[in-house]
Amino acid sequence: MEYLTLKNSDLKVSRLCMGGCPMGGYGWGYTHKRELVDAVHAALDSEVTLFDTADTYGLGQSEEILGEALGKKRKDVIIATKFGVRVENGKTFYDNSPVWIRAACEASLRRLGTDYIDIYQVHYRDGITPLEAVVGMMEQLKKEGKVRYFGLSNILKRDIDEIKPFVGKFITFQDEYSLACRKNEEDMLAISTEMEMNILTWGSLGQGILTGKYTRNNVDFQNDDRRSRATYVNFHGDRLLKNLTIVEMMKGIAAKYHKPVSAVAIRYILDFIPESIVLFGAKRPSQILHNVEGTDWKLEQMDLEKLDDISK
Ligand SMILES: NC(=O)c1ccc[n+]([C@@H]2O[C@H](COP(=O)([O-])OP(=O)(O)OC[C@H]3O[C@@H](n4cnc5c(N)ncnc54)[C@H](OP(=O)(O)O)[C@@H]3O)[C@@H](O)[C@H]2O)c1
Repeated sequence: MEYLTLKNSDLKVSRLCMGGCPMGGYGWGYTHKRELVDAVHAALDSEVTLFDTADTYGLGQSEEILGEALGKKRKDVIIATKFGVRVENGKTFYDNSPVWIRAACEASLRRLGTDYIDIYQVHYRDGITPLEAVVGMMEQLKKEGKVRYFGLSNILKRDIDEIKPFVGKFITFQDEYSLACRKNEEDMLAISTEMEMNILTWGSLGQGILTGKYTRNNVDFQNDDRRSRATYVNFHGDRLLKNLTIVEMMKGIAAKYHKPVSAVAIRYILDFIPESIVLFGAKRPSQILHNVEGTDWKLEQMDLEKLDDISK
């Protein structure tokens, strides 16, 4: 496993992070609790030390399963969770108000079965609460020992003026990035450099399309799987065709290095973005075992350039 120390912190983490979206248990197709717990154990056995979740994944179920699966190992790992997406009476909205941050934090601690959150991330800005007020509550939670560090997610370049005064207050930045989605690349790099934050890429496997298992005739998701919706562009129309072309190239590269296709998707990010951390969702141990093969090797420059060119 490869490790790095996050900027502006003393947190040493693995460059692979197990993502907790599938642990939410709905919206992403079939999952089974036993397999999810076993997947966390497989990640621990593979020396993954960073685990990401959010209060909104499965309305808390993801945090509960992660906390239960980690058990006594909790002290050996870094837990990153998120606040800011609120669901009430069937309505979803963003809320960064200090009152909600405290309530959300207490609830996450309870569900995770822990006294502290290592990295507490603003999932989405609410467009209302001044960042100063968010940071004020964060500092308070830090003083109380409930949170160690803070992170941002899904920030746009137009937000930079607002966040700039808080350099060093947020140590990580999550954004969607993969061989199937490079639209955020320029902004993501600019924001993370300016704010001295490490990048955590989400959707790193293109929600599954970059694992090589999907084909043109094999993307019929159940209705309750959000990838069936046209908004999940990786699996629809021209983007699907383009992604399958990328996957064909990835298969050749995977064969050359004797690695699974998903490991190539991960390795590309690790090599292309220095000091990045790759988040991946996984539903069962076998997926973890394939994905951790993304570490401890390097793509030759020629292969990195080929992947860069085809995915631009
Ligand atoms: N900050 C944010 O707003 C945000 C947004 C989204 C996600 N995230 C975080 O980022 C993490 C990763 O993103 P993601 O889960 O959306 O997408 P992802 O990692 O790109 O794709 C995950 C999906 O790919 C499939 N898969 C994974 N490994 C595989 C393997 N080795 N072989 C075959 N299939 C495999 C699984 O689904 P199937 O088996 O059903 O294909 C899995 O659920 C999340 O879990 C979450 O922690 C953050």
